[in-house]
Amino acid sequence: MSTISIIGSGKMAAAIGGRIAKAGHIVEVVSRDPAKARARADQIAAGAITGMYGAAPAGDIVILAVPYAHAAAVVAEYGNALDGKVIIDITNPIASDLSGLVTPDGSSGAQEIAKGVMSDAHVVKAFNTIFGHVLAGGGRLDAFFAADDTDAKARVSTFLESLELRPLDVGGLHMAQTLEALGLMMIGLAKNGAGTWDFAMNVDIGGITDTSSPAGSHRR
Ligand SMILES: NC(=O)c1ccc[n+]([C@@H]2O[C@H](COP(=O)([O-])OP(=O)(O)OC[C@H]3O[C@@H](n4cnc5c(N)ncnc54)[C@H](OP(=O)(O)O)[C@@H]3O)[C@@H](O)[C@H]2O)c1
Repeated sequence: MSTISIIGSGKMAAAIGGRIAKAGHIVEVVSRDPAKARARADQIAAGAITGMYGAAPAGDIVILAVPYAHAAAVVAEYGNALDGKVIIDITNPIASDLSGLVTPDGSSGAQEIAKGVMSDAHVVKAFNTIFGHVLAGGGRLDAFFAADDTDAKARVSTFLESLELRPLDVGGLHMAQTLEALGLMMIGLAKNGAGTWDFAMNVDIGGITDTSSPAGSHRR
């Protein structure tokens, strides 16, 4: 059992926090507004705790569940209070008109956030490709993640597995660019071809069993 901290008290804090509590970990919710943090913690689980905004979080894993536009500022405000933490960036840095990503060419939101980490902390991209309500609905969903630090990756992989998700490492933190593009693609899919927000991006690894067939043949 671990303590996992979440900065933010919104929809994703609720969805991820619910999974964390169900897995038997202690959830710490932190908001700029202590009353909002308390209300969200109470809604997540009886044993969930709250932390003071800007103070060192109780958990070694800290989930940054705030809008991308404010994420770097939050990390800057925390400064050395995040020393030694694994910071999970869940943000989707998407323009409000959905015309594209708001990140600089050749970079990602996660990389931009990592530039502002002054302390000995590591940024891991995860959760941005799972809709909150789908995450809350349960099931062994695929959880893509990207990071540079090997130890941070291993810790997040174990954490994701504990939430009954399937951790899928897509590479270094630069690969967050692809995960963030996937987040935008999912919104496009929901508003167009799928016509619903009730879906998850899951990968069928090893699903192709007969590559000798001209058309290819699938197990299902
Ligand atoms: N919703 C989804 O399905 C989904 C899926 C994948 C990824 N994401 C990403 O997850 C993140 C959170 O999304 P959400 O749906 O949970 O949003 P949300 O419900 O609007 O919650 C956002 C949270 O961020 C906090 N916040 C806002 N501005 C802040 C600031 N300047 N400083 C500190 N905290 C601030 C809010 O705090 P207050 O309570 O004090 O206002 C609130 O708790 C976003 O980056 C989003 O792109 C969302």
